[in-house]
Amino acid sequence: MTGPQAEAVIDLDAFRANIAALAACAPASALMAVVKADAYGHGMLPMARAARDAGAEWLGVATIDEALALRPGGDTGSVLCWLASPGADFASPIDAGIEVTASSSEQLSEILAAPASARPKVQLKVDTGLSRNGAHGDQWPSLVDGAAAAQSSGAAEITGVWSHFACADEPDHPANDEQERVFRAAVAELARAGVEPAVRHLSNSAATLTRPTAHFDLVRIGIAAYGINPDPRLVHQADLTPVLTLRARLAAVKRVPAGASVSYGHTWTATSDTTLGLVPMGYAEGIARTASNRAEVAHAGRRAPVRGAICMDQLVVDLGDADARRGDLVTLFGPGTDGEPTAEDWAAAAGTIAYEVVTRLGGRIERSYRGES
Ligand SMILES: Cc1ncc(COP(=O)(O)O)c(C=O)c1O
Repeated sequence: MTGPQAEAVIDLDAFRANIAALAACAPASALMAVVKADAYGHGMLPMARAARDAGAEWLGVATIDEALALRPGGDTGSVLCWLASPGADFASPIDAGIEVTASSSEQLSEILAAPASARPKVQLKVDTGLSRNGAHGDQWPSLVDGAAAAQSSGAAEITGVWSHFACADEPDHPANDEQERVFRAAVAELARAGVEPAVRHLSNSAATLTRPTAHFDLVRIGIAAYGINPDPRLVHQADLTPVLTLRARLAAVKRVPAGASVSYGHTWTATSDTTLGLVPMGYAEGIARTASNRAEVAHAGRRAPVRGAICMDQLVVDLGDADARRGDLVTLFGPGTDGEPTAEDWAAAAGTIAYEVVTRLGGRIERSYRGES
């Protein structure tokens, strides 16, 4: 047997090609590659490097710690982070040249009070209807006033204004028009206060693929860069290839008779003699237990169903009468081009979204990269 027991193989050529395809969807806008959450489970630093190689002018992450981790990794370009709790250390990102987000007047005050040696570059987040982070309703005029004052006094440079869609993966949802309208009004209000930041941005992957009116100066691309459709029902023209292939070597193979029941709780029983394969990955690796008895893997070019409950470290697949050996490769998901399931198939089997399928991967999975330049 060669190679790791459980492995995520990440195709950087596919990732760069996806970014190029997405950039072509928004030709007048700059592109931010979203590499938060360890690049959606793909590994932040290699994906960040590949995104820059593919022309991403910006990288986007949620937390300050994620942003700071990019710098020792060698990244010197534009980075935005957007999620910080009270007491956050804003001085470190400011001194590292990382742009921070103010989602409220209070947060702007915390940023301005940070003991940084550089002048903060601040982007303002307006809540246009997601009701998550960002200044909402009456909070926006006071954030605008604070930002205008900080800019005119030289306390901060206001570099961006942005918001986030709630329903972009449903292009006909009325919330999209409304959020875009509210965003335009918020940008106009900011301009009336004398602040016209360099970048205005609203679009995630789905809006980049389907909503050109929302592209503005910059589009923030996450899931689509990893080759996954934001929603299986979303129709778009971009040619995207899934970047991550999850595979493992069978740790055991055994023939069992009809009547043999499999795994905890005996939730599946063989109706005829069959060959079972043991895949050394389980929910500790982020494999959803809700996919028990529902998902499939590929073995030797054929699909093999998961049988019984997915365990912490292992799961069992039904290889039928296939000629199978210990050490054989099985693919849980990949691009789908060789008949293997995709992350979207696993999402459907697990009752979740493909975002969660890839982002949860961890535990003992070893990552390897193809196409490193
Ligand atoms: C603020 C922000 N922008 C952009 C994205 C990228 O979204 P998607 O992965 O749908 O492209 C995310 C991810 O959730 C986000 O939180």
